[in-house]
Order: sequence, then structure tokens, then C-alpha cells
Amino acid sequence: MDKQNDQSRMDKIVSLAKRRGFVFQSSEIYGGLNGFWDYGPLGVALKRNVKDAWWRDMVAGHDELATLTGAPSPYEMTGLDCTIIMHPQVWKCSGHFDLFHDWMIDCRESKRRYRYDHLHGRWAAHRGKKVFVTTEASGDEAVPETVARAQKFFGLRAKQVDEIEWGGGLESLEQVIAAGSATLADTLGPDAAAPGSLTEPREFNLMFETRIGALAGDDDDRAFLRPETAQGIFVNFKNVLDTSRVRVPFGIAQVGKSFRNEITPRNFTFRSREFEQMEIEFFCKPAESAEWYRFWRDRRWKWYLGLGLTEGRLQLREHHRDELSHYSVGTADIEYAFPFLAEGEFGELEGIAHRGDFDLRSHMEGKLIRKDGELVVETGPDGKPRHRGSGKDLSYFDDVSRERYVPHVIEPSAGADRGTLAFLCDAFHEDEVPDEDGKPRSRTVMKFHPRLAPVKAAILPLVKKDGMPEVAIDLYRALKPHMACQYDEKGSVGRRYARQDEAGTPWCLTIDGQTLADKTVTLRDRDSLVQSRVPIADVVDLLRDKLA
Ligand code: GAP
Repeated sequence: MDKQNDQSRMDKIVSLAKRRGFVFQSSEIYGGLNGFWDYGPLGVALKRNVKDAWWRDMVAGHDELATLTGAPSPYEMTGLDCTIIMHPQVWKCSGHFDLFHDWMIDCRESKRRYRYDHLHGRWAAHRGKKVFVTTEASGDEAVPETVARAQKFFGLRAKQVDEIEWGGGLESLEQVIAAGSATLADTLGPDAAAPGSLTEPREFNLMFETRIGALAGDDDDRAFLRPETAQGIFVNFKNVLDTSRVRVPFGIAQVGKSFRNEITPRNFTFRSREFEQMEIEFFCKPAESAEWYRFWRDRRWKWYLGLGLTEGRLQLREHHRDELSHYSVGTADIEYAFPFLAEGEFGELEGIAHRGDFDLRSHMEGKLIRKDGELVVETGPDGKPRHRGSGKDLSYFDDVSRERYVPHVIEPSAGADRGTLAFLCDAFHEDEVPDEDGKPRSRTVMKFHPRLAPVKAAILPLVKKDGMPEVAIDLYRALKPHMACQYDEKGSVGRRYARQDEAGTPWCLTIDGQTLADKTVTLRDRDSLVQSRVPIADVVDLLRDKLA
């Protein structure tokens, strides 16, 4: 396996993504906008294929009569498409209004802003002068960065670097300050020349605010762009129950944009301010919820493997009890070893959370908090609910067992952009292939799973004469209604293969002299490079079977 955690590998992926039209910076001609990304012609197809595969595998293609492996029973799946701006009370009851924040810290000197929990540092001393040197860098880059910064701070030449005395390894600034072993006055900010420039940490709500209506002005007009798609599902729970024939256990799925005003968006599309989520809220009987939680955790894990992510780069991580949200009974993350992370580090692709009855109860009763182990409505100084719920009954009546209960929720919540980025990183390979003269040439090849590949097949006439283009165009027209394919007659066939390899096209079909004689074409497999002769009349069925 290639070394995956490698910044130079990431740089190559980012440059290919731009050069071949997978991902562009948003508003690039105006200098770009930090945390916002556009998908280009190949990228939009890749991301759409990721979302379509998810929808097909989780919702549209789900067999409601079968008991899937590990599931306690058959279950139903349905979908929703909710608005991005919702009633502000939704976010008050869900807890996002009060709690969805990060701590940020500003630098008075560099005017830069950091996420408090992203700063790390270590003590450096030289000739009686001591400073806590911080950096925003992570992984392999963090320690060399602190060395370079300390060298500059103490005014040392490269050969004097060994004179610096280090007081241990990298520690989180947040923890060091909390423990009292450093103060902000001792701390050299990541971009500052002198210590003491960092401000006290402040809370920063991540929801983007907007105003509704032309006469917007007072606080009542404040609305928010949704930071997750999940709440649209909870508030429509009763609508779905009342209008469709679903019965518990069932899931509601939604794919859509979410917005978070991240303090430090970074790592390409990994942490963006506008992104898409693919979320399922799965409603089940409380007594069966632990089993459903395990089912969904395993099912989602297998989904990524089934679409070709390298198992050795994936990790399923169960949260420790003290990591769990106040309402959660269990949470697991599916994580991927992105190349921009240090060796051994993983980034979250999806969280699978057992949320109990927290969400439905919050929207019935009002914002909940945990008190003495119980979820209770949070009250204000007047003894009334701090954020009032809808008052609507969101319980479920099981007409077979004649029981009424508030269903428990299992939530597999995936990021479409993070998934797409993982598929992009995993697909990236560099190898050597023989050119037309049999000499080795290096190639960059995107080994996407055929279901995800933006283009499934390329149709290439060997030369632009002797009737080859006409045969190739006929084949292109026969294939196009069934799958994304391209006709390409420009340049040598080697160059055309190279272009398709970079786009991740799994199959190239070449029309040559033999085609005219025996009505067969050469089918070239992107990964194995095996070339076989296939009757032209069989091509459509053959490729459709390979994609099925
Ligand atoms: N409803 C639960 C929820 O939203 P989350 O862990 O905050 O949970 C779910 O988000 C997924 O959304 C993450 O696993 C990640 O894939 C994606 N995601 C979250 N914040 C993101 C961001 N700033 N940029 C890109 N993707 C993000």
C-alpha cells in the first residue's frame, strides 16, 4: 500500500482535482472564499454518483420485506427534502442555539483567528528566556514548526537550534491553560513575533444567521441556515407517519446542504462552511434500539468498503463514554486516513449515533438537559421552559402490540463532500504502464469504483479515417443512454488512454482495423490494463452487467 499520510501526495491530489475539473475554489477569479468549494465537470459527476449510490443502497433499492444480516427485523425506508431555513424555534429546542459553538481565540498582533482546540505548543527555553511556542500545524509538521518558530523568537542561527531546551512534547494549549501550567501571557501565538498577543478564548456559534422579510430588523426576524439536515426530519416525523403507511421500525433519509461558520475551515473540502450531508433518522422501539444501533454501524461500515475504500485506511471508532453527547447512548465514527493527516491519524467521514428519544422529546416538550442522569426540560429563572417545544404529540402507537411510546433514534450521518474527498484520495495512484512502443511511462490513474467513476467508458477510434469514427460514433450513441461515456478522437491513443486514466474511466473501447473486419472492439481495463476483444454487439450488455 502506498504511504497514504503524505502532504506531497495530498498536494498532487489537490492539483489534479483543479487541473482535471474535479474541485475549484469558490469565486476563484475574485481570489476565492475560504471554506467554500465548487465541483467542476468531473467532480459534480463523482459527487452525484456518491449521493446516488447512497440513496439507491439505503433508500430506493432497500428491500422492505427482507431481514438484512444483523437486523432485528425487516424495516422500511423513505425520504424527505426539507428547507434550509426553518423556524428559529427548531434550533432552540434542538440545542444548537445554545450549544453549537466552538471556542475561538484571536491574535491581536497578526489579526488571525484560531480554533482554541486546534492550537498545540511546547515550552522552549534559551539563556533564561522561556516561552510556550504554539502552532496550528498538525501531524508531522507540528514539531518542526515549533522548532522554526522558537529559533526565530530567540534570534538563533540554524546551527544554534540545538541550544534550545525543550520542556517536553506537544500539548494542547487549551489543556495547558486549564491546568494552569502556562498562561496566555507566556504564549507565543502561531503567527506572532512576541508572546502575550492571544486574546482570552470566546464562544462562537457556528450557525450562519440571516433575516427573514424586507422589514427585518428586530430579534424575532433572526433565522439560521441549517447546520444539519437531521432536524427537518424530526419536525416532519408526524407528517410522514400520518401521510405514508410506514410503521416503526423505519428510517427517513435526506440529502442536502448544511452550513457551519467554521472558525478555521481547512484541509481542502474536509472542513467547509457549506457542505452536503446524507443523513438517516431511523425510528425504532426503545427495547430494540441497541441492536439497531449495531446494525447501522456495521451496515454503514460495509457500504464504504463495498464502494472500494481501502480497508486499511478506514477505521471504525466507538466513542468513549466521556466523549458522548449528553443525550447519546452510543456513537461510532467511520474515519479515513486522509493524506493531509499525520501517520496514524484519521478524519471523520460519518457518525452513527444512538440518540435515544432526545430529539422527538425536545420538539414536543422543549429543550432538554441531563439532570441526575435524566433528560428534563431546561427551565429559565421563571421556572418556565427555557425554549418551549411544539407541544405536538410525537409519540407512536403500535397497533399490533397496543403500546404507545416515543421511538428511539439511530442516526447514521454522513458527509457527501467528505465521502467524495475520501473516494478521490483513495482512487489516486501513480504507476508505470507500457506506451505504444512498449517503453514504460509513468501514469496517474484514478481507480474509482465503476459505480462512482464520473465517466464509465471512452470510445476511441484508432485513427480518424477508414470508417473508424463512424463505427465509434454508433457505439457511443448505443452506450450513452445507459451510462456516462465519452467519444474522443483527438491525439494518439496513448494520450487518450492517459486522459481517461486521470479521469478514472474504468473502460476504454478502441475501434481499429480489426473492428471493420470482424465487428469486435478492444476493451481496455483501467486497473489490470488487460485488453480483450469483444463483439461490438455485446458491449452495451457487457458494461451494464459490470456496473450492476
Ligand atoms: N446530525 C448529526 C450531525 O450533523 P456531525 O458529526 O456534526 O453530525 C455529520 O456531522 C457529518 O457531516 C460528519 O461526519 C461530516 O462527514 C460532515 N460534516 C460536518 N461538518 C462538516 C464540515 N464543516 N465540512 C464538511 N463536512 C462536514
